[in-house]
Amino acid sequence: MKYTPPLQNIPADIVCLDDYQRYAKEFLTHDIYEYIAAGVADEHTLHRNRSAFANIELKPRLLRDFSSASTQTTLLGHNLAHPFLLAPLGYQQLCHASGELATAIAADAMDTAMVVSTLATASLEDIAAQTDAPKWFQLYFQPQRADTSILIARAEAAGYSAIVVTVDAPLSGLRNRPQRAGFQIPPEIEAVNISPAQKLAGQNAILQQLMALAPQWQDLAWLKQQTQLPIIIKGVINPDDAVQLADMGMDGIIVSNHGGRCLDGLPASIDALPAIRDALGSDFPILLDSGIRRGSDIIKSIALGANAVLIGRPQAFSLAVAGALGVAHMLRLLKEELEITMALCGCPHIDDINRDCLFTSG
Ligand code: FNR
Repeated sequence: MKYTPPLQNIPADIVCLDDYQRYAKEFLTHDIYEYIAAGVADEHTLHRNRSAFANIELKPRLLRDFSSASTQTTLLGHNLAHPFLLAPLGYQQLCHASGELATAIAADAMDTAMVVSTLATASLEDIAAQTDAPKWFQLYFQPQRADTSILIARAEAAGYSAIVVTVDAPLSGLRNRPQRAGFQIPPEIEAVNISPAQKLAGQNAILQQLMALAPQWQDLAWLKQQTQLPIIIKGVINPDDAVQLADMGMDGIIVSNHGGRCLDGLPASIDALPAIRDALGSDFPILLDSGIRRGSDIIKSIALGANAVLIGRPQAFSLAVAGALGVAHMLRLLKEELEITMALCGCPHIDDINRDCLFTSG
């Protein structure tokens, strides 16, 4: 297995998030790189996630007052330093020996909220201890409700302040690139928060069990009884689902196609967003992920109705290249791009970003 120690210094020619993907090819074995980078099947949705942003044009306002400008925003009672979070990514030790612990150190350094996956390779308590920034726990329902309850109780005790339930991956999509590269999760890379009884069946069986036991509507109603924490449902594309989730008391949704990794043929998340915002009204918390690579993508997402966005693959690539330093640098690049784009668009505050900031309204 190819392994190059993470860098002590960031190469001067890494100046945007996509540069980390280019460098990561040198730091990851081919099969792991393909596992992270790939979309499902023909990758139509993966590519749409980027081309859709390129097709949206910004409409700046000039000569505004920036004396009190800020990227701060509030979401579900949290003050966030900026409207982007780290998306849940499982198995981060594939990228770096310190895995999620390094990512959490970066989240703390950059005051960025982090969503920790059920499939993390460090304990959710140890991850939480690395960062004072807000932490949410991403739940994959377990085969036994008792095991699901234990995960929720552990997350509550460790200081996680919301539960994110991922519902768009009832089956693992067939990602042809990692298939061709012969990717398997190596036996030493373990999802340590899942009960040992399941692990005896092997990693693929864990994944298949998780997917086969994906939640249904009644499971979400059950979950609502189990915790006082806000519940955010990840993987919503259809406005009818969004309305049903809001009606049953869910606290927020993440408009997501899982970074093009589950069902090929879905629209880009950003293209699905306006109808969902229209269906839910202006106050319901909506986040978005899939394809966010630039500060301007964040502005476009907020303009079309998102309260905040999440960053997926760039955290894996920056983690692979330079560990915690890389993830923190990646977040800094994004924050600087966001600030510069807000300045050039004439939006001193996040609240100033709305559909009037776009020529194309989606
Ligand atoms: C993911 N994603 C994901 N989602 C989730 O809810 N739980 C998980 O464990 C994972 N694991 C995971 C691993 C890897 C390698 C990738 C690339 C993605 C999906 C992730 O949270 C997010 O929805 C997408 O990555 C967003 O798209 P971008 O930013 O990667 O384009």
